[in-house]
Amino acid sequence: MLTQQELKQNVAQAAVDYILPMLRPDVVIGVGTGSTADLFIDALAAHKASFRGAVSSSERSSARLAALGVQVFDLNDVESMPVYVDGADEIDAGLHMVKGGGGALTREKIVASVAEQFVCIVDESKLVGQLGGFPLPIEVIPMAVGAVARELARLGGKPVLRDGFVTDNGCRILDVSGLAIADPAQFEARVNNIPGVVTCGLFAIAGADVALMSTQDGVRQLRPASS
Ligand code: A5P
Repeated sequence: MLTQQELKQNVAQAAVDYILPMLRPDVVIGVGTGSTADLFIDALAAHKASFRGAVSSSERSSARLAALGVQVFDLNDVESMPVYVDGADEIDAGLHMVKGGGGALTREKIVASVAEQFVCIVDESKLVGQLGGFPLPIEVIPMAVGAVARELARLGGKPVLRDGFVTDNGCRILDVSGLAIADPAQFEARVNNIPGVVTCGLFAIAGADVALMSTQDGVRQLRPASS
């Protein structure tokens, strides 16, 4: 029986194998944030001579990449990336995701939006029938925390301010439980429209293009159920 850590290590290595054909000396790739992304960074570093560098979605991942000798680029200096690799807190069969458990959701959404392909790396515990079991992280401008929380409560959620946590962008996170998200893209658009919301942790309007899911029987490749 593989432990969760071993499952994460397997999918991190599978992600490196998946992107190896995309690597060239002039290629910059997008790298996400979290414990699975950390393992991906560690496995990626063995190939650092094969590509130019990376744009990362957090100060934490940038520091890890740099420590392993991978050059880190500012997104403003990069026009295109073939791929963005990141974990998720939940993923459904349509490859819509809840992200932001590590608080890096805004930069994750930005870097992913520039990449041609989003490769989501998860272990099988992250696959759900309906999103919303994991409290939905929402990054909020500090002065709007109260107003946004009241609006989220009107939408049926129970928002809790993430205590003592400030994002890389100087903002706050509301973790919203009690949501059964029947239409993830519609709910993402609804939350995006609340004044003061910087980023909703739903990645549904633009989900993953492929998910590599680590199971006891190996790493499975999932494509969106509708495609
Ligand atoms: C970071 O903000 C998150 O979006 C992570 O990608 C997500 O929480 C998955 O993290 P783990 O790989 O640690 O579960």
